[in-house]
Amino acid sequence: MCGIVGILGTEPVAGKLVDALKRLEYRGYDSAGVATVENGTLDRRRAQGKLQNLEARLASEPLHGRLGIGHTRWATHGAPTETNAHPHMTDGVCVVHNGIIENFKELRAELLGQGAVLSTDTDTELIAHLVTRELNQGHDPAIAVQHTLRQLEGAFAVAFIFRDHDNLMIAARQGSPLAIGFGDGEMYLGSDAIALAPFTDTISYLEDGDWAVLTREGLAVRNRDGESVVRPIQKSVASALMVDKGNHRHFMAKEIHEQPEVVAHTLANYIDFANSRILLPDMPIDLASVKRISISACGTAYYAGLVAKYWFERLARVPVEIDVASEFRYREIPLEPGSLSLFISQSGETADTLAAMRYCRGEDQRIASIVNVRESSIARESDAVLPTLAGPEIGVASTKAFTCQLSVLGCLAIATARARGIIDARKEAELVTALTEVPRHMSAILRDEGDYEALSHTLSKARDVLYLGRGLNYPVALEGALKLKEISYIHAEGYAAGELKHGPIALIDESVPVVVVAPNDEMFEKVVSNVQEVAARGGQIVFISDAAEDAAGCDVMAGIQLPETHPFTTPLIYALPMQLIAYHTAVFMGTDVDQPRNLAKSVTVE
Ligand code: F6R
Repeated sequence: MCGIVGILGTEPVAGKLVDALKRLEYRGYDSAGVATVENGTLDRRRAQGKLQNLEARLASEPLHGRLGIGHTRWATHGAPTETNAHPHMTDGVCVVHNGIIENFKELRAELLGQGAVLSTDTDTELIAHLVTRELNQGHDPAIAVQHTLRQLEGAFAVAFIFRDHDNLMIAARQGSPLAIGFGDGEMYLGSDAIALAPFTDTISYLEDGDWAVLTREGLAVRNRDGESVVRPIQKSVASALMVDKGNHRHFMAKEIHEQPEVVAHTLANYIDFANSRILLPDMPIDLASVKRISISACGTAYYAGLVAKYWFERLARVPVEIDVASEFRYREIPLEPGSLSLFISQSGETADTLAAMRYCRGEDQRIASIVNVRESSIARESDAVLPTLAGPEIGVASTKAFTCQLSVLGCLAIATARARGIIDARKEAELVTALTEVPRHMSAILRDEGDYEALSHTLSKARDVLYLGRGLNYPVALEGALKLKEISYIHAEGYAAGELKHGPIALIDESVPVVVVAPNDEMFEKVVSNVQEVAARGGQIVFISDAAEDAAGCDVMAGIQLPETHPFTTPLIYALPMQLIAYHTAVFMGTDVDQPRNLAKSVTVE
């Protein structure tokens, strides 16, 4: 994880480095630093905590170099202290690094054995020492880096600057993404194109195993085997994206409120509204012949996949194997060659999802991905990409990406059912119409935000909160619990409502709020029975349904009535109350909603 940037500029670069880092804070934000080369001296400023601390440090102790690198950190090796913050340096070289060096212990022992003096607990400092060892043997910087890279195991991206070179930066990519930007007499590098958007839209992406030598005049890239290669230069759409909070207090609030628009936008990409049917972009995968689907993703994206499992199995009659990517990748699942493997990821860079995808590639699967970041590694390695058009999601807790993922998955399930002849054109039109109505229902829910604010005051006092749902809305309950715990730090668990009596019901007493996701669908009566079991044990019910509150058949602490919707689309609709409950509870408790502790937006380590 972590974000890295580098600039070979024509004027002092420290301010620009910080600007770029701000756009990478989604990758980690527990400490940050920048370093520049000035008059044959390497100098750095670092600070624990958010970027504003680094800005304050730079204001009192400026850096003037025209060549520099920067880093925003999500700690892996070593606590998030200033000492462990990047850049790390020796006398002659300075490095920033995103990822993990897996042979850290061996390298550390080797360097200590040779008398190196290490001042941090990080794996990154070792890289600076390895390059220095090579430089001391008389190698030039490019050879020193090349030799060092051969000694590093793991997935990482790195960037180096050197004391004795004021027109040189070297970068390498092995597993973690790295974009190179071309400016007017300037060159840039960053963990993604969004970081470089204020400076340039002309971008080239390094491929896995590449290392690049940058000067102000341009770029030379070599691959893992040392051969000179040319990577295509493209216009990035990232530059066009304005990322700000608008009128909202937090990015998360803005992103929750964008959902009617971005879901409509996403659906429009897959629906032929005139004929009420699904129209997928060119797919090199024949949906009619799909016999099995495997789905793999992490966190919220996994819950979107879990909803899709219900859709694919019930509607399209295709069996689905689904697992969180961190388990999937190591289970050595036997997969029938030619089957469809589906990967869901907002960032398109999640290390476990990418690894699961590569496993499937090795098993001769057809690979389709649902991603929000079009230029991401997962998108680039897929046979078919089904984009979510959610726009940049900055809040660490995923909201609009989830409902856009559900939108695409809903369309894909309908298209699969139709291609396999399981549903006819009339049923397809009915489901498409239901999807088309989702943005309107979402707007209606967002107009009643006050209900959630009031409820949040009660929830903020709870130590534990349970979420219950059944069928399609069991994953929604899981997502509700995840949202609450990650931004309010209140312990929350989601359960299949029918499973409660097999153990978790022991947790219920008057102090435990139980949020029930209860659309008035075929499961409604069953859910109501489960609610009554909870009420009988003193549980405080928050009843979320399109049925009236008294349909719960017991006293409830709060009832939230939602618009009536088609059963197929309920996960998209009921996701919003889950987000609003978590958001308002966290705001009331005063936590850092957009950047909750210990998390990062893009998880590029295992
Ligand atoms: C939770 C959340 C995470 C992500 C997960 C996967 O709010 O955002 O659980 O869903 O880390 O990330 P992506 O979708 O980028 O692969």
